[in-house]
Amino acid sequence: MSARRRVAVIGAEGRLGRHACELLESSAEFELVARIGRGDALEAAVRAARAELAFESTRAGLGFEHAERLLRAGVRPLVATSGVTPEENERLDALARGLGLGGLVVPNFSVGSWLLQRLSAEAARWFERAEIVELHHDKKRDAPSGTALETARRMRAERGEGAREVPIHSVRLPGLYAHQEVLFGAPGEVLTLRHDMSGPDAFGPGILAALRHVATASGVGRGLDAVFARGVPTAN
Ligand SMILES: NC(=O)c1ccc[n+]([C@@H]2O[C@H](COP(=O)([O-])OP(=O)(O)OC[C@H]3O[C@@H](n4cnc5c(N)ncnc54)[C@H](OP(=O)(O)O)[C@@H]3O)[C@@H](O)[C@H]2O)c1
Repeated sequence: MSARRRVAVIGAEGRLGRHACELLESSAEFELVARIGRGDALEAAVRAARAELAFESTRAGLGFEHAERLLRAGVRPLVATSGVTPEENERLDALARGLGLGGLVVPNFSVGSWLLQRLSAEAARWFERAEIVELHHDKKRDAPSGTALETARRMRAERGEGAREVPIHSVRLPGLYAHQEVLFGAPGEVLTLRHDMSGPDAFGPGILAALRHVATASGVGRGLDAVFARGVPTAN
């Protein structure tokens, strides 16, 4: 059997980071070699652990900087953190290609959310007006969510140059976990697409499949399209 891929988790004490650590600890394919938190020196910690891959889930706005530093340290990043723009993604892609490395930025690992984004892009071709409502637990710090921004970006890209903005409404309340509605309106009809998550288990298959992809990727892509190109994996 080949050696397990060595993975560091950055933001390991956070909600998503803890879930990623649990997944890695029960994986036959990957080995959790470092739990890195806010007080740790990033480059020194990944080098000391001889990490090959890093799962980055910290705070909105840090994903780009951390991915850049990880690549320069020779580590392939999988960025879960919200807020990496498409332009920053392109800069990471160029840097990784120059270094002969790869990585990936994934605004949402759930299969249902990935499908909602694809279906929303498809529907945006037929409805000129649409709005997004994203609803999350009250501990979520950023708004609008990275998933909502990515959905809107994909919808506008599908509509082409000069397309109307897609307004996003954010709700933060106890009792919620992660939910998103995309409403399409035209005279006399409304189409509603909705996705609901009740816990982090929905991220598991996407996280493992994305790590598998990152292990051999050239450059830094975005989203799960390439990861799920040959079908969506099961949790086991
Ligand atoms: N892609 C996806 O599917 C997905 C799913 C869920 C969440 N997210 C995104 O992932 C990010 C994390 O979400 P979360 O719910 O896990 O947040 P969280 O519970 O607040 O966890 C973030 C963790 O990162 C740590 N941290 C902050 N700055 C750091 C630094 N410079 N170096 C290392 N660690 C640092 C925090 O430590 P302190 O507590 O000390 O600040 C905390 O432990 C958010 O941007 C969220 O939107 C993405």
